[in-house]
Amino acid sequence: MDRRNFVKSSLVTAGGAILAGHSRSANALPAPHQPFAPQSASDYTPDHIPGAIPASAIDSARFPDGFLWGMASAAYQVEGAWNIDGKGESNWDRFTHTIGKIKGSDTGDVACDQYHRFKEDIAILKRLNQKSYRFSTSWARIQPTGTGPVNQKGIDHYSRLVDAILEAGIRPFCTIYHWDLPQALEDRGGWPNRDLASYYADFCGALAKHLGDRLTVWAPFNMPWTFTYYGYGIGVFPPQKTGFDRFLRAAHTVNLAQGMGFRAIKAASSKATVGSAYGMAPAYPKTNSPADIAAAARYHAMNNLYFLTTAMYGKYPDAFIGPVPYAAMDYRPGDDKIMKVPLDWLGFHYYTRRIVSDATSTCVSGPSGHFGTETEGEGGASARDPLTQIHVEMPTEGPLTDAGLEIWPTGMYDLVTQISREFHNPIIEISENGCSFLDSPDDTGHVPDQRRIRFHQQHLAELARAIRDGARVRAYHAWSLVDNFEWADGYTQRYGLTYVNFRTQKRTIKDSGLWYGRVAASNHLRV
Ligand code: FCB
Repeated sequence: MDRRNFVKSSLVTAGGAILAGHSRSANALPAPHQPFAPQSASDYTPDHIPGAIPASAIDSARFPDGFLWGMASAAYQVEGAWNIDGKGESNWDRFTHTIGKIKGSDTGDVACDQYHRFKEDIAILKRLNQKSYRFSTSWARIQPTGTGPVNQKGIDHYSRLVDAILEAGIRPFCTIYHWDLPQALEDRGGWPNRDLASYYADFCGALAKHLGDRLTVWAPFNMPWTFTYYGYGIGVFPPQKTGFDRFLRAAHTVNLAQGMGFRAIKAASSKATVGSAYGMAPAYPKTNSPADIAAAARYHAMNNLYFLTTAMYGKYPDAFIGPVPYAAMDYRPGDDKIMKVPLDWLGFHYYTRRIVSDATSTCVSGPSGHFGTETEGEGGASARDPLTQIHVEMPTEGPLTDAGLEIWPTGMYDLVTQISREFHNPIIEISENGCSFLDSPDDTGHVPDQRRIRFHQQHLAELARAIRDGARVRAYHAWSLVDNFEWADGYTQRYGLTYVNFRTQKRTIKDSGLWYGRVAASNHLRV
């Protein structure tokens, strides 16, 4: 696998949206994809970089008073302390301890050592005028084998963390599950095992009981499509199982778990508000043929709405070429009622867009046959999987980040306005947006990461435009507070607004972090 394909198969690639809208109504469609065709090198001036936002839009962008500027992180990526204070083994501990799974054989054993250094990191948030910190909890720290009594030391850790965040005048936002499953539950079949829904709800209830007097903002799952599809569908993430049916079962358990977790949180904490942290990407039909438009709609339903329509309406969106494969999911009577929990607000990430085309004529595999990845779909015309039969491309017209992802700021506007239209103008939080660039401290100790500043400036200008056009966006979380363990890429990608020297754990706020701190203080982007 080459570098770009490796990156793509590893993570952010995961979400996905389609601008056709799940209504599949022709008027909701954006213009079909128009490839940028430079005639000469001079076409790449700053204002002519494909996808770039004009400087004037950055100058004029304004955010409302009270807008929640934030940063995000995830337990496995920052905490370290993998076997301390009674924590059990997680699926990611097991995976990273297996040679050959992670670039450089890196692990999250120490990561940013945030378990011990959280006060230092919260001080950075405070210094940068942040108003929201999105962190996640490690299930194996709270329940070492995934069920049974809580490990008090784990609870104490998160209790201290929440207190410290609040003391800094920052809103704590807890993602309950950001991909690290107790290994003991993986050994019991992992997410395809329906029993996990009730174990997960118990975990949610325990968290809300112990933290819900102070913590009010909860998202049950980070990017549920990603960890179910990558873990059980195509075998890129732990436990590296494959099969479309297995993915369907895992995803259905997660949909049940989302509903049951929602109720458990609300039962334990009257102050709780429950939203989401889905991975999404706007999907543009490759041409304006009805087949490509319908394919892009299926992509949107599968990648962006598969856990959202289920929560809001108790039913699966139109993701499939044929009928919903209920039998393969192990869908049982009454599951609609379990899944249906209208969320209080919608949180989603945006990293990069997709171009989608129809692959019904080239999809050779049957429902239980082999199916491919987005990466494979790029080279030929094969479909990504048998039941959606779409061909997905990650375009490269815009500039690429060091992780090989195309920078396409308008995708932010398109996605936010599309979700606003489709879900009756809900309260939205951008739960992640960011980029990997590898800049490191110079001789003066500064990290001059201009490309990251430009990335956030452009995406935020597009977010401000969506707000101006009526979207009710109340928060934006930059990924990430600190450079951290980037899943299969180990420490070879750096998404932080703070540089971390992983040998010494020294933190250096990058120029982008300092810039973002000024943005947070002023609500505009030219600071
Ligand atoms: C997102 C993940 C997050 C991080 C960023 C770069 O998909 O939620 O953990 O890896 O990508």
